[in-house]
This record gives sequence, structure tokens and C-alpha cells, in this order.
Amino acid sequence: MSSDQAWLGGCQCGGIRYVITAPPLTLYACHCTECQRQSSSAFGLSMPVPRSGFTVTQGNPQLWTRTADSGRVVRCAFCPDCGTRLYHLPTRNDAVVNVKPGTLDDTSWLRPVAHVWTSSAQPWVIIPPNVLRYERQPPDFEALYAAWGAWCERANEASPVADSIAGVRAGYDRWAAVYDHDANPLPALEAAHVRTAAGDVRGLSVLDFGCGTGRHTTWLAAAGATVTAIDFSKGMLAEARRKPGSANVRFLTHDLRAPLPFADAAFDLVVSGLVLEHLQDLSGPLAEVRRVLRRDGRAIVSEIHPAMLRSGSQARFTDPTTGEVVRPGSVPHQLRDFVVAASQAELVFEDLVEAAPDAAFAARYPRAAKYVGFPMLLVMCLRADDASRG
Ligand SMILES: C[S@@+](CC[C@H](N)C(=O)[O-])C[C@H]1O[C@@H](n2cnc3c(N)ncnc32)[C@H](O)[C@@H]1O
Repeated sequence: MSSDQAWLGGCQCGGIRYVITAPPLTLYACHCTECQRQSSSAFGLSMPVPRSGFTVTQGNPQLWTRTADSGRVVRCAFCPDCGTRLYHLPTRNDAVVNVKPGTLDDTSWLRPVAHVWTSSAQPWVIIPPNVLRYERQPPDFEALYAAWGAWCERANEASPVADSIAGVRAGYDRWAAVYDHDANPLPALEAAHVRTAAGDVRGLSVLDFGCGTGRHTTWLAAAGATVTAIDFSKGMLAEARRKPGSANVRFLTHDLRAPLPFADAAFDLVVSGLVLEHLQDLSGPLAEVRRVLRRDGRAIVSEIHPAMLRSGSQARFTDPTTGEVVRPGSVPHQLRDFVVAASQAELVFEDLVEAAPDAAFAARYPRAAKYVGFPMLLVMCLRADDASRG
């Protein structure tokens, strides 16, 4: 779990949504009779996270207050419509919110590192041998925090580099060190087109969707936008953070295949440079782009031209240390795929630019010489047009 990852969740009816932007402190199962009653099950799960890293992004949870046998007061938040219990606010510790992690959108990674109040556990519950175990309340949470930290480290190390998306991430982690300096003609050709399409960004709230080393992040921030930049490659993000002006940018590690950790209509502009070739599904991510755009907000999405992919070209670099040609992995989308996915997301085309290098450009970027007059780049200028929603 990295310090800048984000996790989304919400209640059963979807009326209340939240985002967690700070790493959870631990995760444990509680077998006390109060948790059994509250969950109407055998035990409750609790995931303390720093309160500063927890935000309700939609809806208004109601609070119900309970006083424990110890005299401690706990404020319990639930959805007033569907009744789902979402989180607890312990008054003894203002810095923490105890999220009920069964309400996360992705629960596949949840592993309690401790079981507490086992004295009242249901007799058929089998507690794994390799977890901390307390008959009643733990004396403090230090051991639970340490066990969770150790588990997270092991889980991160075991991430499956073999699957294709991990290949994309690992490829960009390697590319990061030279990405800005390898005389790649495509980003060079793209830069001016995206800037022109974006126009005056002063005062705008902008999302850089797949920011990489911050090629667009940097000029957007310097031009007066408030920028949030997301990517899943830690290597690329580290390079972006090193750039001047990055202190004013909010960076998040996020997999673009997952729902975005932002409220509806949070941005005026989304910029996405050369990212979609790595995403199998275009509709889900573009629908998310549409959701986080305000009414009439715009998205400038650039991509290697499908004709390039058809002619056998794709994102690649030569690792200067090994000489190996690394291809992080591309999906051969066709022009139609982009158009259909954008339309399904209810994004309206304002313009569609197909750009080819000329001889002067090729003189500066020799790798472009064989593409003079050939469409290398696609730039889609899209608008979140509410009229299209009927
Ligand atoms: C060619 S780079 C472009 C970076 C930057 N937008 C630019 O124009 O210079 C593609 C970026 O997409 C990111 N990316 C690819 N698939 C992703 C995914 N599923 N989630 C998040 N980022 C992804 C990669 O990590 C990489 O930084």
C-alpha cells in the first residue's frame, strides 16, 4: 500500500460514497457481541485510517452514538436510506476513522491481521493460525499496526508482474528514468497539439489522467491551473514529482481501470496524453472521465494514431543499461473504438485532429523521418455536453 493510493467505497444503495486517500493503519476482525449485532453476522471488520485521509464524496451519512462498557463514546455513521453502517468515529482518537471495509468497492485485498474479542467468537469460526489473537480488547494497537505494515510489504512484493497490466506498469517503471530524454517523436509532436487544444487553463481545475513523468502536469500548473495528476507507475510519478512546480500538484497513484477517486463534476478539464493504448476497455475509463467533468467541461485525449499501431509501431523504448527494447504492451484499438467509447460515455466531439510530421520536424526527430506525411497522432477534443443526456 503506497502513501498516495486511493480506495473508493460506499453504501449498499449507492447514495453515500467515500474515498480513502491515506494508507489504512491496520485491519482486524472483532468478535464482540456489539459487532455481531451491528453486522447481524458473526463478527465485524474494522479498518482504521487517518481521518485526514477519509472524505465522504457524496450523500450525508447519519450519526448514531453508542457508549461502550468502558465508557468510551463511538459515533457510528450509516446511510439513512439503506442503513448500511459505513464507519465509526471513536471520540477517544480524533485522528482516526474506523472504516467498515466491507463497504469498499474492491474488497478482494482485505486480510485481517488480528482477531479481537475472541472470547465471544462464534464456536464455528476458524481463526487462522498466523494472525494476532486477543481474547478481549488489545491493550493498544501498536502490534496490529506493525503486523499490517509487514503484511502490506509482503503483498506489494508478491504483485503479479506476469500479467499484462503489471507488464505495462513495470515497463513504465523502467522507462521513467529516460522517458523525457529519449528523443521520442510522438510526445514531441503531441505537445503543441494538446496545448493548443487545451487553450487558456488559468484558474481551471484539471485532471492529468495518466500523467507519467508530468509532461503535461508541469505546463498546466505553470499556466495557472490547479492540477491533480494520476498514474499507476511509481517510477513515472517519482519523475513527475521531481519537476519544478510539482509541490503545487496533487499526485495520486491510481489504476485508470478502476473508478476515479473523485466526486462527480470535480474538474473543468481532463488532459490525457498517450495513455489509452494501454487500456483494453475504453468505455469504463472514458465514462469516468465524463463523470468527473463539470457540465460543459472538456477532455483533451491524445493517442498514438491507430494507423501507426497497424503498421507495427507501438510504445517502446531501448533500456540504456541493457540495450533491450522494452514494449510495455499496447492494445491495437481502431479509430472506431475511440469514437464509439467516447459517444457511449456521452462525450461530444468538438474536434478530431490527425497529425503527421513534416520534413522540418523529422530533421529534429530522426525517428519520425519514415512517417513524414503519415498520421502519427490522434487528438480528440471532447466536451461533456449535458444536452446529449436528453
Ligand atoms: C506514454 S505514457 C504518457 C505519460 C504522459 N501522459 C505523457 O503524455 O507524457 C503512458 C502512461 O500511462 C500510464 N498508464 C498506463 N496504463 C495505466 C493504468 N491502467 N493506470 C494508470 N496509469 C496507466 C503509464 O504508467 C504511463 O505513465
